[in-house]
Amino acid sequence: MALVFPNLQPRTPIFLIGYRGSGKSTVARLLAESLGWPWVDADDLLERRLGKSIRVVFAEDGEDGFREFEAALLEELVRLPGHVVATGGGVIQREANRERLRQAGRVVWLTADVQTLWQRLEGDPTCAERRPALTSQAKEGKTLAANSLAEITEVMRLREPLYRACAHATVETSGRTPEAVVAEILEQLAIRSR
Ligand code: S3P
Repeated sequence: MALVFPNLQPRTPIFLIGYRGSGKSTVARLLAESLGWPWVDADDLLERRLGKSIRVVFAEDGEDGFREFEAALLEELVRLPGHVVATGGGVIQREANRERLRQAGRVVWLTADVQTLWQRLEGDPTCAERRPALTSQAKEGKTLAANSLAEITEVMRLREPLYRACAHATVETSGRTPEAVVAEILEQLAIRSR
């Protein structure tokens, strides 16, 4: 059965936002497959372009340096028609990025409860390379550990309003398969467009 998106321009890009471990890359690949579109993982592309891991970028250029690279790459990604883009979890921190995403396409926020995010990150062997500490306490190795339950809770508290402000649609992923998440994204975009 073909899904129709009357309000979506035929090749309006779809951007997935959400915290680390919300499933953006997995869902982007499956969503793109079901639409017959290409997909891009912003962090993968950035690492390939820079020739180093995100952890090394954070170590050498600091988080601010990483955010500059991320914003510059976003300027390219918002110009890609007919793509699904998995963004980095912190792209919504800059207001300019939030505006660019909303103007350029449909923005879908993948949510999960803190426990689920933590379990997914614990189970990801690439986590340490890809996901450096985000809080100053964790960066200094003090009271919080990178990607600990406490860090996720703290960062989510600060970011939740930003994800919400940026999203056109919100899809819960806890306890659901990536296929079920894709089905709901398609449904929500179709429903919104009716
Ligand atoms: C970040 C999330 C990471 C990556 C970087 C910063 C964040 O992307 O962009 O480590 O600030 O939440 P994922 O969400 O793909 O893990």
